[in-house]
Amino acid sequence: MAKKHTITTIKAAKNKEKLVMVTAYDALFAKLFAPYVDMILVGDSLNMIFAGSPDTLSATMEQMIYHTQAVCAGAPESFIVFDMPYGSYTNKKSALKNAIRVYKETTADAIKLEGGTEKASIIEHLVENGIAVMGHIGLQPQSVRSEGGYKVVRDAKKLLQDAKALEKAGVFAIVLEGTEAHIAKEVAKSVDIPVIGIGAGVDVDGQVLVWSDMLGFFEDFKPKFVKKYLDGATLVKKAVSQYAKEVKEGKFPTKDYSY
Ligand code: KIV
Repeated sequence: MAKKHTITTIKAAKNKEKLVMVTAYDALFAKLFAPYVDMILVGDSLNMIFAGSPDTLSATMEQMIYHTQAVCAGAPESFIVFDMPYGSYTNKKSALKNAIRVYKETTADAIKLEGGTEKASIIEHLVENGIAVMGHIGLQPQSVRSEGGYKVVRDAKKLLQDAKALEKAGVFAIVLEGTEAHIAKEVAKSVDIPVIGIGAGVDVDGQVLVWSDMLGFFEDFKPKFVKKYLDGATLVKKAVSQYAKEVKEGKFPTKDYSY
């Protein structure tokens, strides 16, 4: 079956329809999310959520490819975006080599990379070579150590310059993370491609959330922008404690669950 979206339909959604993106790291959840979302992002946030690392910086190409293959298998009709890990796109040559690897080893439709004006020439090189690129500006989690934390970005002039530079370089959409809603609105208005917000208010062209935040599984901290659509952690704890209790008490399995 044909994929629901292409970069053409995603670009055409601007000013017509809000775009919905969510992260997924495995086939099981990708399959559950696929019918309801426009795009699935295999975010390098998996390095924190799935692998338990303190930040995204140690994610590798191998790790991202493994998880993207799983997501592609679970959601073959979805538009899937591969998040380029830290260090995989520091120059044109390595960026293209790694992006080609993504297309050869997975069926992901596009890659995403963090950075504004300073990454424009690398993005242009990727696009010239047939790679679909999604940008990511504003709060950039891969800069957490150099920035000394996750900080809301308030430099409107720089964000507008970055968005323009990325659009000129050929990205088909931009993730805008962690900025004030009124600035995000201006950024979205300044370009003709969709701006997908995360912690960027409602006046953008779509939203992305990390799945485990959205479903309430991640308990370590809750950023202001996260809405929990499910209290996943509480439900899981309740279910697992009930299972453990029934096993200990010899109440599971009953005849219904035995051969
Ligand atoms: O890695 C990720 O999940 C992301 C989102 C926060 C946009 O980049």
